Amino acid sequence: MKKMAIVGFGGMGHWHSEFLKSNIKELKLKGVWDVREERRTFAESLGYKAYSSLEEVLQDPEIELITVATPNDFHKPIAIQAMRAGKNVIVEKPATLSADDFEDMMAVAKETGKVFTAHQNRRWDKDYNIVKRIYNEKPIGDVYMLESRVQGSRQVMNGWRGAKINGGGMVYDWGVHLIDQALDLVKSPVTQVYSQLFYIYNKEVDDNFKVMLRFENGVGYLVEISMNCFISQPRWHIAATNGTAEIVDWGDTGKLVRLKDNGNLGWDEKIVYTAAGPTRSMAPRPPETVEDLPLPKADPDLGEFYRNISDAIDGKKELIVKPESVLRVLKVIDAVFESDKTGQSVKVNI
Ligand SMILES: NC(=O)c1ccc[n+]([C@@H]2O[C@H](COP(=O)([O-])OP(=O)(O)OC[C@H]3O[C@@H](n4cnc5c(N)ncnc54)[C@H](O)[C@@H]3O)[C@@H](O)[C@H]2O)c1
Repeated sequence: MKKMAIVGFGGMGHWHSEFLKSNIKELKLKGVWDVREERRTFAESLGYKAYSSLEEVLQDPEIELITVATPNDFHKPIAIQAMRAGKNVIVEKPATLSADDFEDMMAVAKETGKVFTAHQNRRWDKDYNIVKRIYNEKPIGDVYMLESRVQGSRQVMNGWRGAKINGGGMVYDWGVHLIDQALDLVKSPVTQVYSQLFYIYNKEVDDNFKVMLRFENGVGYLVEISMNCFISQPRWHIAATNGTAEIVDWGDTGKLVRLKDNGNLGWDEKIVYTAAGPTRSMAPRPPETVEDLPLPKADPDLGEFYRNISDAIDGKKELIVKPESVLRVLKVIDAVFESDKTGQSVKVNI
């Protein structure tokens, strides 16, 4: 069993410790380092060693793997120092704040030969895995447009998440997950990025945004985050050539509506009379021409993330979350910021 340490034992660091304890027999958490004494004391109360510095973690020959769960701006220096000290490294998302910075980290991984990846855990979300089945198995035809949203109404980003210097803001916090899912799903180069970021409650970092991605294979993909939405839209809305899918939450609540009979709609079909005149195009279909289907099933196992890293350290498997895929996400994020700054869409080949 390999021994590991967590650097940054706040909310997510603690989540990693609990997850490892209950799900991953291949890895044992030995100890943690956090700059705050109360978090070190808390770790000790859970039975872990509290290291007295990052250097002490890095000098511990028993430690093979380090998960870095500090605020976003510390991921890069800590990961580089750890790989140079001979440790394999997982960084929390966003891996770092730009594609250039991530390339520096990849170069150190190459130079040291260490396993290096980012915790893109939302590739294992149930809702996302249902979307994957809809996209790949085509129960409603070819998917041509996806809308992926996360909306809340609390209007606040706690602590460092609201600070630019720490890499705060919603693009880095949530955008990184939803863009990672988009690239993992569509498997075609991104050719164009358009974004609008909003700074409604926080003048330093974005608290709402919309991003539109165009893929080379013709798929369109909207990513939207709001912290100020009091009437939430579904988590997913998916348009395909022969139907529509909706998933309303993080689980499997939703449905597919599939076209059964595209035959003769006739002239006697329902017409919608708007104040400005009648429309047949926008009238509902006769109910007998469509059918509601349950969503496909998906039961992803997030434990696969850590087990895969253990296997990659042993040289038995390739990483699932490959650094190259993380680099693509950060390139798209660079383009998101550029598009917002210029007010123009950005042509890319990512
Ligand atoms: N993958 C996910 O689903 C997910 C969810 C939440 C957070 N995260 C990520 O996890 C990271 C931490 O987020 P959080 O919500 O746990 O924040 P947090 O503020 O709760 O915890 C961060 C901890 O890091 C410590 N710290 C700060 N600088 C440090 C340093 N230089 N060395 C050691 N410790 C240091 C702080 O004292 C704090 O305890 C972020 O990168 C965030 O984006 C990921």
